[in-house]
Amino acid sequence: MKKTTHNSLFDLTGEVAVVIGGTGMLGSAIVRGLADAGAAVAVVGRHQERGEQCVKAVAARGGNAEFFSADAVSRESLRAARLAIEKKFGVASVLVNAAGGNDPMVVASPDHPFESITFPDWQKHFELNVGGGILLPCQEFGPAMCGRGRGSIINIASVTGHIPVPRMVAYSASKSVILNLTKYLAREWAGKGVRVNSITPGWIPAEYNRRLLINEDGAPGARAEAIFRHTPMGRFGEPDELAGATVFLASPHASGFVTGIDIPVDGGFLAQTI
Ligand SMILES: NC(=O)c1ccc[n+]([C@@H]2O[C@H](COP(=O)([O-])OP(=O)(O)OC[C@H]3O[C@@H](n4cnc5c(N)ncnc54)[C@H](OP(=O)(O)O)[C@@H]3O)[C@@H](O)[C@H]2O)c1
Repeated sequence: MKKTTHNSLFDLTGEVAVVIGGTGMLGSAIVRGLADAGAAVAVVGRHQERGEQCVKAVAARGGNAEFFSADAVSRESLRAARLAIEKKFGVASVLVNAAGGNDPMVVASPDHPFESITFPDWQKHFELNVGGGILLPCQEFGPAMCGRGRGSIINIASVTGHIPVPRMVAYSASKSVILNLTKYLAREWAGKGVRVNSITPGWIPAEYNRRLLINEDGAPGARAEAIFRHTPMGRFGEPDELAGATVFLASPHASGFVTGIDIPVDGGFLAQTI
């Protein structure tokens, strides 16, 4: 076995990483982490301006990234992005699936109980978080990785996929599929040299969940206080705290025998009992 130094364990030089949802809050932190470790990074999303901002931030740190526009719920759009990425950087060796979100209006709450959720609203969550969040990107980028016999797929799950959280019923159910499909694909593609794992972020306020967590005056709301009580570390996470787990799973030197696992980065949320 080749001798590996501590530094080269986490060196991604020569890797081509694709981050779907790289325009978002967590995705762009993941992009920065992968680029800092030496990967060339394709930032994929619908919003060009946010994508360009992310690319600029990487360039300012001396890294290499480029924005590619795509709608993750369209296979054709993902295919066009894949071809453009291959032309620019070559075949992807790392795929991070970070596109997803929750519609705060589709919540089961006393005013809006479970039985009032409409089927189209339910489907909307599955279309984005399952269709665009894992299924279509894995179908589009996975076969080329399998063809080359190497690759690492990292799916961004959620604590709500492990424990269904009040007021996020459709989101929680859709995120549970990420955990399930990660294990399924890990088994399916292990013999082809492609590892498939997930990361479960804890609570990190973003645009789509801010209204549920933060009061208008910027102070944590009652729901945030409940989350802090349930989080042994007693705080929200920071986007950059996902970079370490991502680089570990992306690196064939650091995690070459790791597939089908989930890494919670959640301040202990999933370990909490009474
Ligand atoms: N923040 C948290 O507390 C938390 C906790 C656990 C898990 N997560 C998960 O982490 C991931 C990122 O969330 P975030 O907190 O960073 O929220 P965010 O800032 O709203 O990012 C969401 C990302 O999804 C992308 N996206 C949405 N629809 C898309 C589509 N049709 N095609 C392509 N991209 C699409 C957005 O890109 P464009 O708008 O540019 O298309 C954006 O990059 C999501 O999967 C979320 O479920 C977040």
